[in-house]
Amino acid sequence: MIRFLLNEQDVTLESCAPDLSVLDYLRTIAVQRGTKEGCASGDCGACTVVVAEPSGDGLSYTSVNSCITFVGTLHGKQLLTVEHLEADGRLHPVQQAMVDFHGSQCGFCTPGFIMSMFALYKRDRQPTRAEVERSLSGNLCRCTGYRPIIDAALSLAGASVEDQHALREEAVSTRLKKIRADHPSGSLECGGRRFFLPATCDELAALLQAYPQAQLLAGGTDLALSVTQQLKQPAVLIYTGGIAELSIIEERNNCLLVGAAVSYTRLESALKQHLPAFGHLLDRLGSLQVRNQGTLAGNLANASPIGDTPPVLLALDAKLHIRSGNHCEVIGIDDFFTGYRQTALPANGFIEQIQIPVPDDNLFKVYKVSKRFDDDISAVCAAFNITLSEGVVTAARLGFGGMAATPARALNAEQALIGRPFDEQGILAAQDALERDFSPIDDVRASAGYRLEVARNLLLRAVLEQDQLSDEPLEVAHYA
Ligand SMILES: Cc1cc2nc3c(=O)[nH]c(=O)nc-3n(C[C@H](O)[C@H](O)[C@H](O)COP(=O)(O)OP(=O)(O)OC[C@H]3O[C@@H](n4cnc5c(N)ncnc54)[C@H](O)[C@@H]3O)c2cc1C
Ligand code: FES
Ligand code: FES
Repeated sequence: MIRFLLNEQDVTLESCAPDLSVLDYLRTIAVQRGTKEGCASGDCGACTVVVAEPSGDGLSYTSVNSCITFVGTLHGKQLLTVEHLEADGRLHPVQQAMVDFHGSQCGFCTPGFIMSMFALYKRDRQPTRAEVERSLSGNLCRCTGYRPIIDAALSLAGASVEDQHALREEAVSTRLKKIRADHPSGSLECGGRRFFLPATCDELAALLQAYPQAQLLAGGTDLALSVTQQLKQPAVLIYTGGIAELSIIEERNNCLLVGAAVSYTRLESALKQHLPAFGHLLDRLGSLQVRNQGTLAGNLANASPIGDTPPVLLALDAKLHIRSGNHCEVIGIDDFFTGYRQTALPANGFIEQIQIPVPDDNLFKVYKVSKRFDDDISAVCAAFNITLSEGVVTAARLGFGGMAATPARALNAEQALIGRPFDEQGILAAQDALERDFSPIDDVRASAGYRLEVARNLLLRAVLEQDQLSDEPLEVAHYA
């Protein structure tokens, strides 16, 4: 059984497909059709809804793409839809602002924008323009154009009006906490296909033993696309988002220990504090809706050669805490990617935590090169972790994505750096060595030649940044 609140209404589901999306649930079962379907792949934001969860005595609000969110993940949460924003015939302040600033023409994208703006309104009453842009980064509008929409969102800065949701927050939080206390775990079943929401790692380990064909579900931002785009029908899904042990972010022995169910959004402030270059990369990963759901564990287990975080974790020499049944082991990231989309994850195994070393004084740089700033996959992603002693390289780990069938280190280039000064002359041998490390492919994102040239130039960029020889903005957050 799964229980959640649809706006204010209690919903209990027992029999439903494990891969029923929140969007399909809303449009076909709850018959609330204000939420629209555009792409069904997390790219356009037309389907944006807001999910509220208990936070202290109140609620935290996050925008998510309902097309790639499975309904079972709503257990113990409140699903807020565009139908629920107005109160007593009066538009919500974000809706009124959209009207006042003429932010809608055909209107197809508008419910999604409204819900992203609503989540921002609940989170931050003094948003900067940058924060508004971040909040709307996952919403596409084909006809109005963004200026009036951004103006509408900015006009709400400093708004003192409390909405109907603020008045009910404590009561809703209490209702949600009761659902979780009464039913820490959840499940759904339909025609032999199942969805499980375990509450502990022990339960998860036992479920994986009992259902060897099961697929793990974290944020679903990769997995759900196999359902909506490839029309696959997973037999058993096990959702990790209800497990407290997988939701930790801890500092321990110069490392960050990150639970496998921690979303990018939750991780961001810890990364920006300890590893700013990594933290800024998250600003470039997908959109806010994607970051509100997606996880490091999903990015690693998915093992895409163009995933953004594996190159960084390779450069930092991260370790993966893996559990299979009652057996726990630690796998170094160097041994994790074994082939194209293949990993060393044992059968029935799952990632519990990712241990990320925080280097002391190393030169640590992260670069993502893609065609757009927001919501775009890398052509090349690179992370450099370089130890220097009096200007000379004593150790180097260079992680790359987009250059090979797996995320990979540039071992020849690393060797070519060691013992040389980290300057324009000193990196020449390493730049040449990249051609021995990688034979990238041509595809729609970039040609092989472009990828190699970019990789060479990113090493040079790191030198220029270090020497501050260039006045150009060189941070990952400043260029696409
Ligand atoms: C619109 C859009 C934009 C995107 N942009 C980017 C981008 O810019 N950069 C980028 O790198 N990626 C991007 N992605 C891909 C995706 O968001 C990331 O790969 C994300 O990190 C996946 O995490 P998840 O939690 O959603 O994984 P899920 O989809 O839940 O799972 C992915 C895989 O990991 C497995 N898995 C999940 N948890 C565990 C665990 N604990 N142990 C073992 N296996 C596990 C699942 O079984 C599945 O095989 C984008 C996706 C979308 C839809
Ligand atoms: S329909 Fe496009 S993001 Fe969901
Ligand atoms: S108003 Fe038409 S797509 Fe945005």
